[in-house]
Formats: sequence, C-alpha cells, structure tokens
Amino acid sequence: MARYLTGFQPTGALHIGNYFGALRPAIELQEKGEAFYFIADYHALNTIRDPAVLRDLVRGVAIDSLACGLNPAKACFFRQSDVPAVTELAWVLSNVTPMGLLERSHSYKDKLSHGIASSHALFAYPVLMAADILLYESDVVPVGKDQKQHLEITRDIAIKFNELYGGVFKLPEPSIREEVATILGLDGQKMSKSYGNTIELFLPEKTLRKKIMSIVTDSTPVDAPKDPDNSAIVSLYRLFATSDMVASMERDFRAGGVGFGEFKKRLFEAIWESFAPMRQRRAQLEADAGYVDHVLADGASRAQEVAQRTMSKVRRAVGVRD
Ligand code: ADP
Ligand code: TRP
Repeated sequence: MARYLTGFQPTGALHIGNYFGALRPAIELQEKGEAFYFIADYHALNTIRDPAVLRDLVRGVAIDSLACGLNPAKACFFRQSDVPAVTELAWVLSNVTPMGLLERSHSYKDKLSHGIASSHALFAYPVLMAADILLYESDVVPVGKDQKQHLEITRDIAIKFNELYGGVFKLPEPSIREEVATILGLDGQKMSKSYGNTIELFLPEKTLRKKIMSIVTDSTPVDAPKDPDNSAIVSLYRLFATSDMVASMERDFRAGGVGFGEFKKRLFEAIWESFAPMRQRRAQLEADAGYVDHVLADGASRAQEVAQRTMSKVRRAVGVRD
C-alpha cells in the first residue's frame, strides 16, 4: 500500500484556496493508501515569531482539518515538532546538499521578494522538507505546483545520500495537483495569504458576508449584461453551487438586470450552506479540547515509531551514535 505524506504550514487560518487545493485532495487520498499528514510548525518559525500565535495557529489548522474530514482513524495526523528527529535528519542531509541546489530555489527567492527576512532557516527550508519526506519513507507526496521544485530537491538529496552511504532512502514521487484550478481571491488574483485576498473557511456569518460583499467588481451598471467568464464571483460560485445554480447565475450575468450585490448574496448563501456540516463539527471539536490533543499525541507516537526506524538506519550509515 502506498504511503502518502504531506505537510500543512500553520501560517494562517485555512482558506478556500487551501481547502480545494490541498486539504480536500489529501482527505480523498486518506481512503486510498497509508496517509501521514502533519502540521509543519518548525517550517512556520520562518514567519511566525510569536509563540502564542504559533500555538493558536497549530491548533486552528488541526481543528479546521479535522472538521473538514481529515480522519485520524485513517490518516496519521501529527505535529512536525512532536518528532524532533526530523531536525536531526535535516542536519545530516544538509551535509549532502550542495549550496547551488538551494541557491536555485524559486520559493526562497519568491519569499525574499515578498519581504520575508532572509535567514539560514529560510534558505535551508527545502532540506527540512526533504527530511520530512524521507524520514517517513513516503512513496507519494501530494502537493501544489508551487512545491514541485522542493520535491525535485528532495529526490536530488536522497540520490546523493544513497550514492554515498548505500540505499537508505526510498525515492519519493511527487503527485502534483495540476488539475486543481487556481482558486481566485477577493481581488480576482490567486487566493493567497500573501496577497491579503483570502476567504477563510470558518468565519463568523457577518464577517463572511462582509468579505464576500467586498469582492472587487467593475462598474458595469445593474441593467447591462455582464461577463460570467471573467468573474471571481462566478468562479467561486462554481465550487459551491450545483450546476443548475451555476447555469442560472451565468444566464443572469449575460441577460443584465441583476447587480453584482445580488450575485454576491447568492455566493455567500452557497458558501455558508456548504460549510454548515463542517462548521457544526468544528464547534464540537472546539468544545472538546482534549480530543484534538489526543489525536495529535496518538499521531505523534505512530510517527515516532517510523522515524526511529529510519533514524537508526541513517545513524548507522553515516557513523554517528546508534
Ligand atoms: P498561501 O498562498 O495562502 O500562503 P499556502 O502556500 O500555505 O497558501 O498553501 C498551501 C497549499 O494550499 C498550497 O501548496 C496549494 O496547494 C494550496 N493553495 C493555496 N492557495 C491556493 C489557491 N488559490 N488555489 C489552489 N490551491 C491553493
Ligand atoms: N512546504 C509546504 C508548503 O508550503 C509544506 C510542507 C512542509 C510539506 N514539509 C512538507 C509538504 C513535506 C509536503 C511534504 O505547502
């Protein structure tokens, strides 16, 4: 049975882009193989510098993921830092990672251009990610397109290590979700925390309504026909509404006579309704603090077992303690 592994960075509350682009595909895969999913809190130290905020974000991502259907009976769900061996492996791997490999990282350059302070950890981010993947002997790593190069770096590091020390690591295969369309944000660009245009999954009703009403539209008058093919409203509506509802919105766009405010209202209703069961589940999870701790502790102990086995092999291979 294939082992799937992926990580979620706890850098903000999950938004609709994360859900359709990453979380939902991961939830679907938990039925198909052995899933290892973790919250990448060591990685988040790059950007989150307040310990209380980081703790809250980790908890929030855990609760959001469980509320959306991540099933801890099927997937091993854990916090990255509960298995600190991953940082030991990252150190070992650093020794077989050429500087040039990291210097070519698009993600590093992109983060610098978005104003994230350069640091050794930001530069070494792909090595820690390689350690995540190799520590758990992952077969397949489902990620978004933006992570493709990180997977290539992981494979390069594993090949180099295996050449030097014998075949310790399994080579992981990426599974790139090319088919997931880019989810558009409030301003019509790709929805992303970095662009401040996100719609979070679990906003209170009033806040969600306000966000939806703030979707940027042009100044086409109410009476005039509108173009449904270039509208962030329609593009988001497609994710939540039935095909009949979408067809009816597209018709009303083309016919004219309906204003953007009305379309936004329909979008709000569709989002609010689709997430109703998840919201209910989330409220239950929030009321039961012990349950989430228990899930993460249980996941950590399963993950630690696998990590121990890999680390024994690694330590023996390179000649440090064990
Ligand atoms: P953000 O861009 O908000 O910082 P992340 O980079 O933390 O989001 O996203 C985690 C994963 O969620 C990404 O690898 C990607 O697969 C998915 N994702 C994020 N935003 C979108 C989007 N707008 N459309 C589709 N998938 C997305
Ligand atoms: N870098 C990934 C992201 O930004 C998160 C991540 C960390 C990850 N470690 C991983 C994803 C290991 C897959 C496998 O989305």
